[in-house]
Formats: sequence, structure tokens, C-alpha cells
Amino acid sequence: MSARVVLLPGDGVGPEVVAEAARCLAATGLSIEIQTAPIGGAALDAGAPALPDPTRRLCLDADAVLLGAVGGPAWTPGLPESGLLQLRQALGVYANLRPVRTDAVDLLIVRELTGGLYFGQPRWRTDEEAVDTLRYTRREIERLLHVGFRAARGRRRLVTSVDKANVLETSRLWRATAEAVAAAYPDVACQHALVDSFAMALMQRPEAFDVVVTENMFGDILSDEAAVLAGSIGLLPSASLGDGPGLFEPVHGSAPDIAGQGIANPCGAILSAAMLLRHCLHAPDAADAIESAVRQTLAAGVATRDLAPDGGRAASTAEVGQEVGARIRAAITAAATAGNSAGTAVTSQACTSARRAGSAVTSPAAPAPAAAAAPAPAPSTPSTPSTPEEASRP
Ligand code: NAD
Ligand code: IPM
Ligand code: MN
Repeated sequence: MSARVVLLPGDGVGPEVVAEAARCLAATGLSIEIQTAPIGGAALDAGAPALPDPTRRLCLDADAVLLGAVGGPAWTPGLPESGLLQLRQALGVYANLRPVRTDAVDLLIVRELTGGLYFGQPRWRTDEEAVDTLRYTRREIERLLHVGFRAARGRRRLVTSVDKANVLETSRLWRATAEAVAAAYPDVACQHALVDSFAMALMQRPEAFDVVVTENMFGDILSDEAAVLAGSIGLLPSASLGDGPGLFEPVHGSAPDIAGQGIANPCGAILSAAMLLRHCLHAPDAADAIESAVRQTLAAGVATRDLAPDGGRAASTAEVGQEVGARIRAAITAAATAGNSAGTAVTSQACTSARRAGSAVTSPAAPAPAAAAAPAPAPSTPSTPSTPEEASRP
């Protein structure tokens, strides 16, 4: 049985990087039925809303969704982005996993994705005044924190909960809830940090952090900051999980400054496809093959301009995708020759829900940039599933 994956290329560099991610999915040899649909500015240009109804339905019926990026200067500010926000809400993908990994750093940012300032009501604007509402319920905070703590159990067992509890009531509720949830995970250390000084600590001693759990807006900002650690935002993937189909997208945006030139880094999108295989298609071998292929490609010096060493030749988006694809095919062929064809199996059962995500979020995300010229880091050992059905679970 084929798994159903919807591609939403979107705007700017979105279609360029999604094409390479699709090439890499195909290179795994898995039986995946792909459908493509418009979202964002591309949908608006076709005379549809930013999230057209057929796109919404297709995504809700799929096993997983892979999105490029939305937005850009050609459209009313925020309008294409509203399509993505509606999609996240429709899919109920409340937990956004943003791994950042280099030789020295292994972070997992767990960002709340369907609450907070992005969705709070009331929300309005006149010429003289504007209101956004920052609202969180204990339940929204709890379910996200459980994702973070379970993920930490498969990693270095340290959760840093980031808030602004010295100022915001929502953050005080966040911190109190984090303390209560932490009590259910005595094997995981929990510390609290204020977002302003955490932003500094993240640059000063990133290796000191493991799982970072935070609210929607803080997570958005901190994950772009963390991209500096990886060497380029073009490297970072993400998985957004709820209880239905997952949504997978690179952390970067539509990059209008480089769109249409064939120079965008496709690795974040390709690694998002690997996360899709791991979380929703239950194909960990294929996910491993993609992640290894990305690491090898970069270690071999095949990299786009954002990563190419000074004076070194930069590869195009397509050249990086082709190189990664070739390495995936070689790995799959070698596995098949060795009599291990597990990589071709795909199950179209329910996506790993956010509640179980802790067992599957340790995959390497951001390989060392080629400029580092160091051997690629060894893949982290997939953790033993550690998702006991805690009574405390929401
Ligand atoms: P951006 O992430 O698009 O770009 C920031 C910088 O990073 C730019 O210099 C860009 O060239 C570079 N960059 C981004 N992706 C890259 C890649 N794959 N390879 C190499 N370099 C890359 O952020 P922005 O400029 O603030 O936003 C542009 C538009 O994208 C806005 O409309 C924003 O709302 C939208 N956006 C969408 C998403 C999404 O769809 N998930 C995410 C972020 C921003
Ligand atoms: C991201 C983006 C989105 C966000 C925008 C485009 C709505 O910046 O995915 O990081 O703020 O969540
Ligand atoms: Mn962002």
C-alpha cells in the first residue's frame, strides 16, 4: 500500500527546495503517492485563498505534508503566511520539533505551534492602535511539555523551559506547569530560563543545552538564532506533529533575495523529508539513508553558496539534490544487495503523534557544513522508544 504525501511547494525558494526533497524521497524507492497542491502566494495568484479548500482537504486526508515556504514581497504582508497558519491549525500540529546538530551541538527546540500570540483573540488593528492576544491554557502548555520531556528521555535528559516569567502572566503559568510536568519525569533534569538571557546563552554555550521547550513566538525567534550555530538556516528541518498527519517544512522562509536563481540550500527541505519518513511513514532506514547522504554530500564539499568555503565552488540547489539522491540510491542498493531490504517498506498507518514523538526525534538534523572539512558526525543511535503511557498524560 502506498503512503500518501502532499507536497506544498509554496513561494520563493519553496518550489526549488521541495523539488530536491521530492527527488530524495523518490530515491529511497519507497512506494509513496505524491500529490502537489497550492498554498500561500501561489494559491493567491491562482485566484484562490491562501489555503484553498481542496488543499486543506488533501492535507487532512494524507499521511503527511511536506511544505517549502510561503510569503514574499509580491503579496499583501501576512496574507500568504495566513494560509500556513490555517493549515497548522487545521492539522492540529501543536508540537514543532526543530533539531539543530553540528559536531559540537545537539539541540532539539520543541516549539508550541498552535497557540500563543499567533492565534490569540481578540486581534485587531486601527490606524492608531493594534491588539494581539497572548493566551495559553494549562492544557496547551502541558501537552507540549510532555513532548519535550519524552524527547529528552531519548537524549541527554535535560529540558530547558524558556519563558519570560519575570514579566508575563502566560509565562508564569508556563513555568508553574513546567514544574508540575517535570515532577512526572524524575529521570529528566529541568531548568528554567528567561528568554532574553537564554538567547545570549544559546550563542555562548550551545553545547550546554539538550531539549529546549518554549512557546510559539519565542520558539520562532530562537530557532532562527540557533540556525547560526548550524552554519546556515538552509540546513534546518522541522516536523510539526499533532494527532493526525504531520507537517514537515524547512525552518527557513521563501528567501525572496535568492529565489529563482537555483542557489538555495535544499538540505533543510531534504532533512524535513527524512523526518517525515521517520515520524509518519515509519521508514527509519530510509530516513537514516537520507540523513547519511546529506552528511556525506556536505562532507564531500558539495554545498550551496551559503555553506561553500570562501573561494570554493558553490553547487546549485539541483546539484546538491542530485548528489544526495545518488548517495541515497547507492545506500539502498547496497542494503538490498546485503539482503536487507527493510528500507523499502512503508506503512501508511497513523503518523507518529506528538504524544509519541519522544521516541523518534533524535535523528541528526544539521550536519557539519562542508567548510568544517571534518569527517561527518556519526549518526546518533536511534533511541529505544521511551513512551510509556504515563498516567499524567493529557
Ligand atoms: P528567510 O528565511 O526567507 O530568509 C532569511 C535569510 O536566509 C535570507 O538572506 C535568505 O537568502 C537566507 N536563506 C533562507 N533560506 C535559505 C536557503 N534554503 N538557502 C540559502 N539561504 C537561505 O526569512 P525572511 O527573509 O525573513 O522571510 C521571507 C519570507 O518568507 C517572508 O514572507 C516570511 O514571512 C516567509 N517565511 C516563511 C516561512 C515558512 O513558510 N515556513 C518561514 C519563515 C519565513
Ligand atoms: C516559521 C515561520 C512562520 C512562523 C511564519 C511564516 C508564519 O517564520 O515557520 O518559522 O512564524 O511560524
Ligand atoms: Mn520563523
